[in-house]
Amino acid sequence: MRAYDIIEKKKNGEDLTQEEIEFFVNGYLQEDIKDYQMSAFLMAVCLKGMTNQECSFLTSSMLNSGERIDLSRIEGIKVDKHSTGGVGDKTTIILAPLVACFGVKVAKMSGRALGHTGGTVDKLESIDGINLAIEKEKFFKIVNEIGCCVISQTSNLVPADKKIYALRDVTATVESIPLIASSIMSKKLASGSDCILLDVKVGDGAFMKNTKDAIDLSRLMVEIGDSFKKKVVSIITDMNQPLGNAIGNFLEVWEACEVLKGRGPKDLRNISIYLAAHMLNLAEKGSFEKCEKMAKEAIDSGRAFEKLQEMISALGGDISVLLEDEYPNKSKIVYEYLSDFEGYISEMQADKLGKAAMILGAGRQSKEEYIDPYAGIILNKKVGDEIKKGELLAMLYSSSVNRCKEGENILKNAIKISNVKPKAEPLIKAKITNQGVEKYSLL
Ligand code: URA
Repeated sequence: MRAYDIIEKKKNGEDLTQEEIEFFVNGYLQEDIKDYQMSAFLMAVCLKGMTNQECSFLTSSMLNSGERIDLSRIEGIKVDKHSTGGVGDKTTIILAPLVACFGVKVAKMSGRALGHTGGTVDKLESIDGINLAIEKEKFFKIVNEIGCCVISQTSNLVPADKKIYALRDVTATVESIPLIASSIMSKKLASGSDCILLDVKVGDGAFMKNTKDAIDLSRLMVEIGDSFKKKVVSIITDMNQPLGNAIGNFLEVWEACEVLKGRGPKDLRNISIYLAAHMLNLAEKGSFEKCEKMAKEAIDSGRAFEKLQEMISALGGDISVLLEDEYPNKSKIVYEYLSDFEGYISEMQADKLGKAAMILGAGRQSKEEYIDPYAGIILNKKVGDEIKKGELLAMLYSSSVNRCKEGENILKNAIKISNVKPKAEPLIKAKITNQGVEKYSLL
């Protein structure tokens, strides 16, 4: 077999066999196949696509490239949750303790920030003392005793994806449905949970720019899950504006705690309850309606917040700061961004706001860059809100005035104001299971 022939076959739009795909993935990991050959292959997949069968072969080749976590020592049903990446998406911090209140186990490996989208590991690492790089034994013990634990992905979890993703990132080959599906599903399958809830984001701040593509991606991931005998449900949610009001690591942890304290932004609370209800339903805790009530109760009673504190303490984190009533600001510069216009907020482009938060210090522009855990943005208005000239639009947190000025310039382009009140965009757009697609306009 020759890499050249496989690239040419895909370039001509032909279907590849399991052996050919395995040869390519394994050869790349062993460095027999070079970056330039893999780049050409990825571009051919981007342009010509893959059948569902080929995508399953690609997923299993990647899955077999590393360790598969055996969660059998954790009692009960294990449910995982994955978001395809958004701005201000801190739902994992809310959902893990929330469903753990009902005996559903969450043994979750999370990633770091990618481009303008944040990563749960960077968010949790903004808590003083926390260590997410723990041994498996300790991970299992925390999940068995507390019910949930979020740690950073081990280096041997799907090494093929790690290497291929880094190349996709610099060769404009990220936005391909079969490549995204195999990347996500190989990691989810390697993580070992029984059921998986996928939150596929759609909008300008997401990889999927329209609902049709998000449905196609969801269908493919549900089908891959089925072929590996895993229950997978995919929910399509809006990412045309950030989720909640906070963007930035510690700011997002604080906002997640606000929701668990029964406060916080309505969109974040509602989506968290909706996703938690689906996780509980997947774990056979009752009908969706019953699970929704259970999720609300666990928030309103404070049980879910207590569970989060237990998890953070078990990971060595200092919870005292999370118990304060007011936001305990640690940023050197807090900059008020005031509106120059009046009217209604008609757009808050999530990708640009994510980029602004990154410039303020909340994300990395290169792999080696230091993250300022306290940098970011708090939006004081969201799409549909009315604003007056001179009124506060957003607070910017950073360690430097120059970064704030740069961030402000991006915000000026990202936030649009109109004199007509815009139509509200539904937060939940569709649900995809192995039974089919249900379209909604919810929340
Ligand atoms: N998230 C992933 O893990 N992989 C992709 O390809 C895109 C988003």
